[in-house]
Amino acid sequence: MHVNIPVIVTRIIQETETVKRFTLTAKTMELLPAFSSGSHITTFLPTQTGMLERHYSLLNDPVDMLLSYEIAVQKNADSRGGSLYLHTAVEVGSELSISYPKNHFLPSFRARHHVFIAAGIGITPFLSMMSELSRVGKTFELHYAAKSQEQCAFYSQLQTQYPDSCRFYFSADGPAARLQPVVMAGQPIGTHVYFCGPETMVSQFRAAALSFGYPEKSIHFELFTPITPITRSPFVAELRKSNKLITVEEKQSLLEALHQAGIHAPYSCRVGGCGTCAVEVLEGTVAHYDTVLTDGERTQHNQMMTCVSRASCEKLVLNL
Ligand code: FES
Repeated sequence: MHVNIPVIVTRIIQETETVKRFTLTAKTMELLPAFSSGSHITTFLPTQTGMLERHYSLLNDPVDMLLSYEIAVQKNADSRGGSLYLHTAVEVGSELSISYPKNHFLPSFRARHHVFIAAGIGITPFLSMMSELSRVGKTFELHYAAKSQEQCAFYSQLQTQYPDSCRFYFSADGPAARLQPVVMAGQPIGTHVYFCGPETMVSQFRAAALSFGYPEKSIHFELFTPITPITRSPFVAELRKSNKLITVEEKQSLLEALHQAGIHAPYSCRVGGCGTCAVEVLEGTVAHYDTVLTDGERTQHNQMMTCVSRASCEKLVLNL
């Protein structure tokens, strides 16, 4: 069972035209749970279309006195309700329910140097990482792409705190100013690279990092949304232990179908990035859309992430 934390919004700052920063303070005025850099929380938002769960990175330095958490939310034009709700219905004094912090994107403390690549609101997980790394004397550099300086959230803060470690790339300045994967080339051995942004950007930088010779374990990334499946055909899942047959509709994930059928199926990130929802596959072939399994593990078709992966056959048999 998930235990949530009731919080009150105690401050809202308009960072850019589309990004707001929210300060969330424990309703009981007790200290909030500690977290590691790169962590996020889930917010539970009671919108008109039902309860939505949305994940947001924590911006604070993990050693801050944890009287409050800070998150930043970009209002998306194609919002399905989460960011719209936070931007329009939430004000100072509003009460929200949040999860305990979780971390699927922590910096490697074995790395000799860290290269952070952020696009737009993808800057958020790197703020706590940079606080922590600079405090412990580790070297890092941030390459941050945004549409323009005005639309670059935390621009002044970053310029002030890390003037020698940040480079900004504004697409409004023309194609020559765009952030390119070449910034990862020629880095010292032992460098780890981290990407946070849209799927296309993450895929491009991940492929480039591999081509530059970075080992898989030195490449870290966080996606805003799950990888888009090539096809979304309905399929049947036979749950061998529960003796149930369920149909996963075209617009549904296997995880959603399991919950609809009353099956206890744990999850966390819902974008194929954490491994919490992994299940054993006994029969059938899987179309994998997660970022957890290695290429070798995928070819065995004996496990899958239910939040994103689907069948590439008519029926899967699961050990559930
Ligand atoms: S819930 Fe994280 S991989 Fe599925």
